[in-house]
This record gives sequence, C-alpha cells and structure tokens, in this order.
Amino acid sequence: MLVLESMEAELSDADFRRFSGLVYTASGIHLTEQKRELLRARLRKRLRALKLANYRDYFNVVTADGAEGELKALLDVVSTNKTEFFREARLLEHLRDKSAPGWLASASPSSVFRIWSAACSSGEEAWSLAMVMQEAFKERGEFKILGSDISTRMLDKALGGLYESRHVSSIPSAYFEQHMEPSWVEGQEAWRIKDSLRSKVAFARVNLNDASLPFENPMDVVFCRNVMIYFDKGTQEALVGRIHSLLRPGGWFYIGLSESLLSIRHQFETIAPSIYRKPL
Ligand SMILES: C[S@@+](CC[C@H](N)C(=O)[O-])C[C@H]1O[C@@H](n2cnc3c(N)ncnc32)[C@H](O)[C@@H]1O
Repeated sequence: MLVLESMEAELSDADFRRFSGLVYTASGIHLTEQKRELLRARLRKRLRALKLANYRDYFNVVTADGAEGELKALLDVVSTNKTEFFREARLLEHLRDKSAPGWLASASPSSVFRIWSAACSSGEEAWSLAMVMQEAFKERGEFKILGSDISTRMLDKALGGLYESRHVSSIPSAYFEQHMEPSWVEGQEAWRIKDSLRSKVAFARVNLNDASLPFENPMDVVFCRNVMIYFDKGTQEALVGRIHSLLRPGGWFYIGLSESLLSIRHQFETIAPSIYRKPL
C-alpha cells in the first residue's frame, strides 16, 4: 500500500527546493527547474526501495544523523552516468600521440606517468585510457591511471571491468583483441578487461566538490569530461583551480568536446578545443 502511494506522491515546490539544495551541497550538481521531473522519477526509486510514502519522509531519512550511506544512494540515483568506450576518441589520440610521448622523451627511467580519469562513471573512460597508454608506452615507460567517481554503484561496475556486448562495440578492433576476453553476465555473452590491463588502473570514490582532492603526488594528465556541465559556474571555477594545483607544470587537462573553459577564470594555456596545459 505504501509503495503504491509513493508512486503517486507529488514532489512539491518545497520538496524540490530541499532536495536540490541537498544535492548541490553534497555534490555540486545543480538541478534546475527543468530537471524537476527527472528528480521526481529518480527519487521514487529510493522511496520504493525504502518503502516510504512521500518525499518529505525520505528527506528526513537522508538527512538524519549517520545517514551517509543513504546520501551516497541518493547521489547514485541523481547522477547521470552516460559514457562509452573511446568516447571523443580525438582526445585519447592526442594523449597517445602528443602528451604521452612528450613526457616520455624527458622522463627518467624510474618515473611514472600519472593520469586521473575524474568522474569515470562505469569505467569505460579509464579503461580506454589504459588501452591507448599501453600502446603509447609499448617500447618503454610506466603509467598508472586512477578512475574516480562519486557513485559507488558505478565504481563497482568499473572495478568489475565486465561489459555487455553492446557496450564494447566502440572499442577499435586492435585494442579489443588485445585487451578484452569473453565472459558471461546473467547468462548473456559479455566481455571482460584482461588481467594484463588491470594492474594499471585503480578506482576510488572522489567527490569533485570536496574542497581538497586526496592526492599526494602531482598528476601528469587529468581527464574531466562531461561532468562540469552539471555544475554551476562557481563550482566549475573552483574545481578547475584545484585541478590546476594538482597537475605538474606542463601537465595536460582534457575536458569534454561539448565543454569549454571560456566562461570561467583559469590559469591554463589553451592548446586546442577541450585540450589545456598548465604552463611550465
Ligand atoms: C556523464 S558521466 C561522464 C563519464 C565520463 N567522464 C565520460 O565523459 O564519458 C558523469 C559522471 O560524473 C559523476 N559525478 C557527478 N557529480 C560528481 C561529483 N561531484 N564528483 C565526482 N563525480 C561526479 C557522475 O556520477 C557520473 O558518473
């Protein structure tokens, strides 16, 4: 009965303000009025899961002391996780053909090229980066990739490295043959990232809205694509500043092809659309 009621529940103006404020504070995701129906549909999943009758009750649950787990679940349902292997491949090619060889030319034998795939969703971006880096450093050179996201559900998938057949069709055939092996998901044919690539990639939960990013060593490359579109200008500017600080001088910063840093203040040099560099 309660479940049925929750399916009918209205998201009032006050509910919308409460939830959009909470999501903004917790993640930087700015839910505009146009996202109201989307928010309602997504919150309904949590109401159903918890067998709650209305959004007000759910707000009380998610903001109660010790409800960090439910807050993570809320951020899981409100985040948009669309991604694919070799998305915006032009940027991966730039990494493989320009940034990585440039670094290798002056690197000492013991140095490691460090890449951060910020907001990696279900991992396709991080694994695609690993595939192109394996090629870029096939003769010599060490690299490590960190994939991070705010969504623990997406990170579990990323770490599993197991993808349905329809999700791997965008991997170019040479990379596919080298790095994927057949497997099964719930009786369906699927593809798994081979172990040889797994040691190169780690995953961790990082909230890009946190005031300090949890990295000890500077990064050589940051990919932060198709996530800043969900943030307002102030949040974007603060994040780009933090990314600038954690890159080494000469490090590269890649954003999505439909994004730009034009409207925000930053200290990067623009190399090409969506490709930026921290001055030496
Ligand atoms: C549309 S996906 C982009 C994935 C990938 N970068 C790409 O371009 O294909 C956006 C991702 O950003 C994540 N995200 C949203 N807000 C975040 C935050 N504050 N911190 C970390 N990740 C966040 C979402 O969980 C989602 O997986």
